[in-house]
Amino acid sequence: MLKVTDLKRQFQSGDTIVNAVNGIDLTIPDGQFVSIIGQSGSGKTSLLSLLGALDKPSSGSIEVDGRDITKMNGGELNQYRAKTIGFVFQSYNLVPNLTALENVMLPMEFLGKPKRDRIERAKNLLHEVGLNDGEVLRKPGSLSGGQQQRVAIARALANHPKYILADEPTGNLDSQTGKKIFNLLHDLSLKEKTTIIVVTHDLAIAGKTNKSFRIKDGRVVNSTDRSKT
Ligand SMILES: Nc1ncnc2c1ncn2[C@@H]1O[C@H](COP(=O)(O)OP(=O)(O)OP(=O)(O)O)[C@@H](O)[C@H]1O
Ligand SMILES: [Mg+2]
Repeated sequence: MLKVTDLKRQFQSGDTIVNAVNGIDLTIPDGQFVSIIGQSGSGKTSLLSLLGALDKPSSGSIEVDGRDITKMNGGELNQYRAKTIGFVFQSYNLVPNLTALENVMLPMEFLGKPKRDRIERAKNLLHEVGLNDGEVLRKPGSLSGGQQQRVAIARALANHPKYILADEPTGNLDSQTGKKIFNLLHDLSLKEKTTIIVVTHDLAIAGKTNKSFRIKDGRVVNSTDRSKT
């Protein structure tokens, strides 16, 4: 379970202080598919960065199964990022000079998996997300946006993370492709028992998740729970 308590992140911007995350409380049970919605500048990316330990909060706590990640040391945080979290970004963030296969193998290198196992897991994941044998050997530049996002999802799943954090994962895709990518993410999360937290502007997408949190000015102003209906 993920439990966020009174989380705050301030940024200094010239003379002014921006309260990007301004006292957020959230509880997300395991295996749920959760969306975070809110206008541009409301603090969605800032929140996701804190959950993924890409950034440190000004105050508050983020407990993952009872362990507060805001109190972890550098080594523990590296382990957390590598093993517990998989990130999917709007702009895919693949390494351009590596093939799709090598991109998916990369996170497994940090955990010291033998090369044969890395190749096998990466191939299986890429096949699962719908790339064929030829496509897995291509570099991101020669793949379509939808295919690149499939590779990014496979990469995020490589180390069997407990959480997938996805920031506008369908934002660069046409609505048809976006829908497919979204369904893929959902199916894989069920299969791999991953909790998904997705930031989206797309209310149709948000409507399909178990739970939505609406964020405004760095605070949760509304939450909708669909898991019990
Ligand atoms: N590194 C930073 N330095 C200063 N201000 C920042 C920084 N990062 C974010 N902010 C500010 O914090 C607020 C929240 O930004 P954030 O990127 O979290 O919004 P968002 O909800 O993800 O918006 P969008 O939908 O446009 O991606 C904004 O006012 C933004 O300008
Ligand atoms: Mg954002």
